[in-house]
Amino acid sequence: MSAASETAATSVAPASPPELLRVTDLSIATGTARLVNEVSFTVAPGERVGLIGESGSGKSLTSLALTSLLPSMLTASGSVLLNGVETVGASETALKPLRGAVAGIVFQEPLTALDPLMRVGKQIAEPMRRHLGLRGAALQAAVLKALTEVSLTEPRYARAFPHELSGGQRQRVAIALALAARPQLLIADEPTTALDVTVQAEVLALLDRLVAERGMGLLFVSHDLAVVSRMTDRVLVLQRGDVVEEGTVASLVHSPAHPYTAQLVAHARVLDAALDGAAGEPGSGTSAEDGAQ
Ligand SMILES: Nc1ncnc2c1ncn2[C@@H]1O[C@H](COP(=O)(O)OP(=O)(O)OP(=O)(O)O)[C@@H](O)[C@H]1O
Ligand SMILES: [Mg+2]
Repeated sequence: MSAASETAATSVAPASPPELLRVTDLSIATGTARLVNEVSFTVAPGERVGLIGESGSGKSLTSLALTSLLPSMLTASGSVLLNGVETVGASETALKPLRGAVAGIVFQEPLTALDPLMRVGKQIAEPMRRHLGLRGAALQAAVLKALTEVSLTEPRYARAFPHELSGGQRQRVAIALALAARPQLLIADEPTTALDVTVQAEVLALLDRLVAERGMGLLFVSHDLAVVSRMTDRVLVLQRGDVVEEGTVASLVHSPAHPYTAQLVAHARVLDAALDGAAGEPGSGTSAEDGAQ
């Protein structure tokens, strides 16, 4: 029977476009409370999708559930197909080839991803060895190339321990680590929130470039509409675990349908106006209320 369904699946596959990520009715709950409610969305290869919402709206839990990384006291239900493989309820054996190799993750705080006791070059080498089968001189060259790609060009960076680097440098290493096994999807959960504004802009530009160069799909998580609109084409708005609105960045900014989205847009405009003022460019965006309701 499984042979028959495999045959059927193979004959259907070429007709439908390949899907990198399909999330259907994903819910996340503790024993007593639901934290994420039946969230559904897709990311096609090369597509950039944003997930925006206030603190506590469920962005990180949703991101973690995609590769089944939720803390053990939380349970996910529904379906997450990553390159066609179900991750909800999957065994560690089934998840291993997906984590890093199909989906790489960059977290808000780089130290979450980095081992404090291991030199960064060795950390980046690990997924390259495991998923790409690189060894010896080829592996060493690939590590240095990965660090160069995130603008850490000197070989001394490979020998550094995480605590010997600045916050921005650590986040660059975390990006290199997330990309080491050449994933098709990058999940970036507030990757620049912990950095100061200048470094934030540099790291965003770097992510933008690498995602474009490699044609990766991107799920970009943030509470900041300006940042999400810069990095993505389509956005889901999450509020208290519910997707309250979904659309292109342009449609959300110009005609937000949900009051919560309108509030996000209004806040972004106020900030924009303030920045314009600071840059000595009066005139645009003084009307914070524009489109706010
Ligand atoms: N291990 C846990 N046990 C119980 N509740 C949790 C757990 N982890 C998170 N939560 C709750 O789930 C909700 C969603 O949390 P989540 O971390 O996904 O929010 P977020 O949107 O990423 O917020 P932020 O912008 O602050 O990062 C919050 O109310 C949070 O308190
Ligand atoms: Mg979060």
